Amino acid sequence: MAGQREQFQSRLGFILAAAGSAVGIGNLVGFPVNAAKSGGAAFLLVYAAFVVFICLPVMIAEMSLGRHTQRNPLGAYSSVSGNKTLWRIGGWLALITPFMIAVFYQVLTVWLLAYFVGAVSGNLEAMSDPAYFSEFINDSSVFIYLVILTFIVGFILNSGVQKGIERLAKVLMPTLFVMLLLLTAFVLTLPNAFVGVKYYLVPDFGKLSLDTVNLALSQAFFSLSLGMGILITYGSYVSRKESISGGAKMVAIVDTSVAFFAGLLILPAIFVFNPQTDTAELSSSSVSLVFTFLPKIFLSLQDWVGYIGASLFASTFFLLVFFAALTSQVSILQVPISAFQDELKFSRLKSVFSLGACAALLVLACTVSFGMVPWLTEFMSYGGGTRSFFDLVIDVFYETILPLNGFVICMFAVYCWKRAKLNQEMAVGDDNISGSFTERYVNFALGTFVPAILLFVFISTVSLKFFGVNLLQAFG
Ligand code: PHE
Repeated sequence: MAGQREQFQSRLGFILAAAGSAVGIGNLVGFPVNAAKSGGAAFLLVYAAFVVFICLPVMIAEMSLGRHTQRNPLGAYSSVSGNKTLWRIGGWLALITPFMIAVFYQVLTVWLLAYFVGAVSGNLEAMSDPAYFSEFINDSSVFIYLVILTFIVGFILNSGVQKGIERLAKVLMPTLFVMLLLLTAFVLTLPNAFVGVKYYLVPDFGKLSLDTVNLALSQAFFSLSLGMGILITYGSYVSRKESISGGAKMVAIVDTSVAFFAGLLILPAIFVFNPQTDTAELSSSSVSLVFTFLPKIFLSLQDWVGYIGASLFASTFFLLVFFAALTSQVSILQVPISAFQDELKFSRLKSVFSLGACAALLVLACTVSFGMVPWLTEFMSYGGGTRSFFDLVIDVFYETILPLNGFVICMFAVYCWKRAKLNQEMAVGDDNISGSFTERYVNFALGTFVPAILLFVFISTVSLKFFGVNLLQAFG
């Protein structure tokens, strides 16, 4: 149905919409946690290098493919390849991945909603207690938030108010960014913050390990919404007047800046509130880190603005992060839903319901796997430890599969779609790209070292995570 798709009205509109999808829990929670646990500055540097040298070319390929085919990922893969089974596997990967990401994303978004409600109702003090988080995730009240959120997401997806939400997000996202900057500035004035800044900005390469490098790549893919069909879908809405490579660079800059400042907020805060923190203990950091330290930061604002002021600030912040997560969540679910509509000819309502029902079951299984249901809590053992159902979903769909999807995209763009077509699409709306450095780099990178690195990272993550074997040591 080429030509009938709506398009983003302006360059800024496209960038903000793509950034609205890209900026989410990955930047605000995932990045600081991974940076804390993987050596701070060393992680930051590897991450930044991956964004520039590996992710950008993949991002450009995905968006170009989307604009060229005007289809969802499954349709894009099958239409370009003439329906070859092998390539359709790539399309399926690009469908199952966002679906499963949506599952664990929902779990985290529920927590944000609950933290917003908690701050509004004056619970900030209790929330800053380190034990609060683990008690809360096992409390039956999460089910209420889960039901509320499921209705909100279902309503947005089904009623076409998505446009309105996206418009709202365009105002709210910059507000979130400003609040993030203010909070960061505040934390940096507190005693001992500088130790955290040093940990975050002065690299200690001794902290680099295969694990860290793998995690940095998966985190970069996740944060930029790569390897999950999102950008193929977004690309299909980009106007032919826009430069894809220019848009991709802007999205990468916005997304990485938000992650950078989230790190500059959380890492120093750890050292402010726990001055005796030993950097070695940070290696076991988890999501609870952010959910514990944010309330502490807000609470310490009370010396300036009183408890009510601090609670107001906290509520606004959690609301904005919740919005960032909601826009991401809606955009992830959009991928399988539009594929069901286009490829299986399901109606919108039927697609939302069938996918929604499957997702709801899986979300429920994740929610009760923090202790409520023992067999889901100790679901599997691999890589030397017992993992819950939630851990399994995160391990597979956040930390492992994205580089594989990226590898498939590179192979597909270069060996099935072919560079000439990619270049042609990149040149649409961009007069300066032909023969430019960007074009030559993208052409070279996508057919050579980028897929090689992605494949290596995928294989070594699988062997490390699931079999406890470090490939570098095994062969080194
Ligand atoms: N990139 C988003 C984040 O960092 C997550 C996301 C994944 C959003 C997939 C949309 C699609 O939180």
